[in-house]
Order: sequence, then C-alpha cells, then structure tokens
Amino acid sequence: MTFTGRHLISINDFSNEEIEAVLDLAQEMDSALEAKKRLDLCQGKELYTIFYEPSTRTRSSFETAMHRLGGTVVSHAEAQVTSSVAKGETIADTVRTLEKYADVIVMRHPLDGSTRLAAEHSSVPIISGGDGAHEHPTQTLLDLYTILKEKGGIEGKNVALCGDLRHGRTVHSLAVALARFKAEITCIAPPGFELPDHIRDILNNYKCKITEYSSLEEIADDGSLLVHQPKTGKTHQEGFMSFLLESLDVLYFTRLQRERFDTQESSVAGEESYRINKQLLAKSRDDAVIMHPLPRINELAYEVDQDKRAAYFRQAGYGIPVRMALIALLLGVAEPKKALTTHEATVKIAKDTSNLRCINERCITNKEQYSTPKFYKVPGSPKLLRCYYCDWLAQN
Ligand code: NCD
Repeated sequence: MTFTGRHLISINDFSNEEIEAVLDLAQEMDSALEAKKRLDLCQGKELYTIFYEPSTRTRSSFETAMHRLGGTVVSHAEAQVTSSVAKGETIADTVRTLEKYADVIVMRHPLDGSTRLAAEHSSVPIISGGDGAHEHPTQTLLDLYTILKEKGGIEGKNVALCGDLRHGRTVHSLAVALARFKAEITCIAPPGFELPDHIRDILNNYKCKITEYSSLEEIADDGSLLVHQPKTGKTHQEGFMSFLLESLDVLYFTRLQRERFDTQESSVAGEESYRINKQLLAKSRDDAVIMHPLPRINELAYEVDQDKRAAYFRQAGYGIPVRMALIALLLGVAEPKKALTTHEATVKIAKDTSNLRCINERCITNKEQYSTPKFYKVPGSPKLLRCYYCDWLAQN
C-alpha cells in the first residue's frame, strides 16, 4: 500500500515494514541535511499546524521539516483560544475548512481520539501531534530512529519506560512499537501511574516481556539504592539495582503529566521516585542510552546532560529528518526506498454497537455530539471490543 494521502493517528496505522520505510527515508534526509543539500520536494505544498495544547518540539520540528523540504507553513498555535473552537466550532467543521487551505495538517488536541475524528472529516492527510493521553505516533517514529541510531537495532533491547506511564501518550505508542519490534520493556512508574489496562492488553497480545517496578529511589544515609516492586511488595538491595541497571539498554524518562491529573492524584506522585542523577548513571551500562521526549521537570538531573549517554537533545534533533520523511511520503513526493508488500488494515469495525458508549470520559466521542462511537474487535479475542478512537476496552 502506498503512503500517499494516508493519515497517521496511531502507530498501528503503519505496519512494521512501513515504519522501517519511514526510518530508512529519514536516514536519507539526515544525510542530505548533513551535506547541506537543498531539497525542494515540497515546493508548492502547504503544511498547516493546528495545536490546541502547548508544544515546543513537535510543532517547530514539523514546521522546520516542511521548510527544509521547500514547502510553506501556516502555523496556528493556542488554537483553543485563537480558533473558532473558542466560539463552539467542532473538530469536523474546523478540518473541513483547513483542508481547503493546506495539503497536510498536523493537529495536537487534549482529548483522546480527537485526531482520528479529524481524519474522518479530512480529504488531506492528518498527522497527529498527540491526542490527549492516547498516542503520539510521530514522537514514536523519532524515538525508534534514535534507538536505531544509538543502539543499532531494536529487537531484543531492554528499554525502561520511567515516569507517568498512565497519562503519558509518548510511552503508549512507544510501548506498542517496542512490542511489535520485539524489544523487552521494563516499566518504572510511581504507584497509580502504571501503564493503563488497554495498553497492557495490547502488549500482552504481542507477547511482550514486561517487568514492572514502582520507583528508582535513593535512600538512606549511605546513599544505597533500593528498588520497590509493587506486585510482590519486595524491596531489593543495592546489588539488585546495579543488576537492574546493567540489564537496561535504554532508559526512557517522561515527566508527570500534571495537566491530566484528577484532583486527588495531584499530591500523590513525585519525580524524585524515578529521578536519574550522576550516581545512578554511574551504575548504568557504558553503552546505555538516556532518552526523554522533553520537556523535563525534575526527573533528569542537569548533571546528566554532559554524559555521552544523554541522548535527549540528539533525539529532539532527529525529529527533523523523521518528520521530513513522513511529510514527503504522505504527500507522495517521495517513494519508499524498497517496494512495500500490501499492508492489511488490522482493525475490523464491529457491527451493532449503537448501544455502546466509550467508557473513557476523555474520549472525543463523549464530547463531540455528532460523532458516533465505533468499536473494533480485538485480534485474537473477538469477544473483546475496543474504542476505534481511543483504544480503550469496551465494557461488556
Ligand atoms: C511530549 C508530549 O507532548 O506528549 N512532548 C513532545 O512532544 N516532545 C511529552 C510531554 O509533554 O511530556
């Protein structure tokens, strides 16, 4: 299947082969950028970015990517207050208008499934720049690219996902991709901030090996380190921490997503429980890679920045070639380097679900009245249904 005209809303919209094709082309873009080669692939094409949530990296790297491809950009930040949404306009009507102005649209929105709904109403490609706590597929593409660049491969690598795994969208799409590319996952999340059930269920379907801990904590006067394992209630001594860190190829940190906390959660968690500093780094492997989608709050000490293993600003930089490759493919101005086999859509929409409503209160189908909830059958467990927009499991 060709990339031309397609949307990218979930990392599962692309097969493994397609993800590899984007990353191969990104490598080519990277080399062209390094050689200061001029690329005019997108001359006469327009990218529209509409962001209903703050952004530093995603929006500016998409815009820079389009400029580097010779195209033009219209940038619409703070759309929650500056667009007609503030007057009550719907996503559907917004998108039906923007498709008249642009060849491709990048949208970030605070509600889960919002970008999928946008895609249903758009004749031009919609790329999700993050939808609520659901997914951030282009961050995942650049995260995979970073792991490939820094570690040479993904299969068999042990990747620790640390932080707010419940509300963080980057870790949701990354975990799914890691499972699909046969990596191992170690989760380190404060109690109550573990991966949600619907993501856990997807990972189980891929038979991904997951190990879970609740904190990386420095305690006691002697600075010894303990790890608490929530499931067993066990506390391991310092030797175990060294053992754990020795097994990790990648440590991927995320901030607490306080803007998505319920009120009662606000005082529960602290970044200290999974903060990385020089001491912890000293116990990590020499070839470990420290990643973070950024912005950081307190989970990465500044003293870590000087270490060669700190890859997070390199990671942010990879956003340019990866997004250049994606834009060029979706606009049909570049072809994958290798011919692709047909990609079968993996979701089959279930019939007769008109009485079902998504149980996720933050799902777009519970907010935009004209939208119709849709559900798909979980591969391998046809009795289970998931929301087509936010992937939450439906209640029977
Ligand atoms: C992330 C996001 O918006 O989800 N930022 C980004 O795009 N690099 C992570 C975050 O905000 O914590």
